[in-house]
Amino acid sequence: MNDHELRSLDNDHVWHPFTAMSAYVDEQAPIISHAEGFHLFDTAGRRYLDGHSSLWCNVHGHRVAEIDAAVREQLDRVAHSTLLGLSNAPAIELAAALVERAPAGLNKVFYADCGAAGVEAALKIAWQYHRQRGPQPENRDLFVCLGSAYHGDTVGTISLGGIDKFHSLFGGLMFPALRVPSPATPGLSLEQCLTETEALLTEHADRIAGFIVEPLVQAAAGILVHPPGYLRVIRDLTQRLGILLIADEIAVGFGRLGTLFACEQENVSPDMLIVSKGLTAGYLPLAATLVTDDIYRVFLGDPWQGRTFYHGHTYTGNPLACAVALASLRRIESHQILQQARLVEQVLSTELAPLAARFPLRHKGTMVGIDLIDPISRESFPSELRMGHQVTLACRERGVIVRNIGDTLVLMPAPAMPLDLVLELCRVVREATECTVCHRDY
Ligand SMILES: Cc1ncc(COP(=O)(O)O)c(C=O)c1O
Repeated sequence: MNDHELRSLDNDHVWHPFTAMSAYVDEQAPIISHAEGFHLFDTAGRRYLDGHSSLWCNVHGHRVAEIDAAVREQLDRVAHSTLLGLSNAPAIELAAALVERAPAGLNKVFYADCGAAGVEAALKIAWQYHRQRGPQPENRDLFVCLGSAYHGDTVGTISLGGIDKFHSLFGGLMFPALRVPSPATPGLSLEQCLTETEALLTEHADRIAGFIVEPLVQAAAGILVHPPGYLRVIRDLTQRLGILLIADEIAVGFGRLGTLFACEQENVSPDMLIVSKGLTAGYLPLAATLVTDDIYRVFLGDPWQGRTFYHGHTYTGNPLACAVALASLRRIESHQILQQARLVEQVLSTELAPLAARFPLRHKGTMVGIDLIDPISRESFPSELRMGHQVTLACRERGVIVRNIGDTLVLMPAPAMPLDLVLELCRVVREATECTVCHRDY
């Protein structure tokens, strides 16, 4: 099919996620046909630098020889068989590899097939854990989350979300949660934040089933960077109060912040840790929820006692996805991708300094959020201007794909991106912002 035919069928039949469809149909969005390294090509033959890691999951670039080979080799064995009561070699080897590298104590791996499903598994594990942990069952019924949190789009995960634009409409559908302030809340000191958090946790400690946190950076909130030390204090606090700490590393794991796991940076071992996105380097859907032996043990007992975790998905532990994750892990280590991510971080910091002087800009590792405000009045733009979207389109015209969340422009180059391409990404973002935001007629 040619570009024109595809576009017409796209407009007729495809409902795109997180996309204003009424505007999309007129925008001639690229229809991606193939990729090469860190570039995507569309059906009209245009080339784009992938400046947001194909929604925060690509790690090594596209069509990486050894990862492609891992898919093909696994295809020659079996594409899928279930993990319900059976096993497969890649799922076993990946679980062992993750446990070996994860923060201490996380010894068991439960698979799901997207980030939200990995979080849902963690929530249900925590819920069931308290009800089965002896000698008395504890009917703990509250989860704690941060302000502006994002953990996915299923009903359970939106219940723990705090982004009004995405979540407020669904209030009646959600279960109640306790919210503590994000340590990145403007105007709130770390000390105030921790005092408030400690008071709330102490008051409700015996009802709290788990405290979920995006370690170090809240991505979907617009790359909110936590002050150093916050995660460590929260670990100590939750440990002291007997509260399970659930680390959602879906966006920040696998090199995005220069370490394999973000928790490493504060020497934190949570009780549960969820990974997805970069786990398969942006190749295939997979999530893993890692838990401690203490949690796992509570699910054991004679089969007829009903302590089993009755939860799972058709594609849980899919062998193709697990084979890819193993190949990616090996490549992260053999190609020093974590070191490369730290170099990418330095280039982003230097090259985006001119924008940081004019706009609120948050940056950690390979994650950047730029708030596009009026640089003179320092006010937000009216939402009908869709300024974030306009800058995204201006980048696209210049051959770079990034994405905005409202008027926050998010850049997230792959941890392995060569530095000359990071320079190009920054140059285009500077130019597109300059032309769209700064040279406007107000
Ligand atoms: C921190 C975090 N948790 C969970 C999710 C949901 O992952 P998925 O989109 O794979 O369901 C995301 C997605 O952006 C995320 O950033």
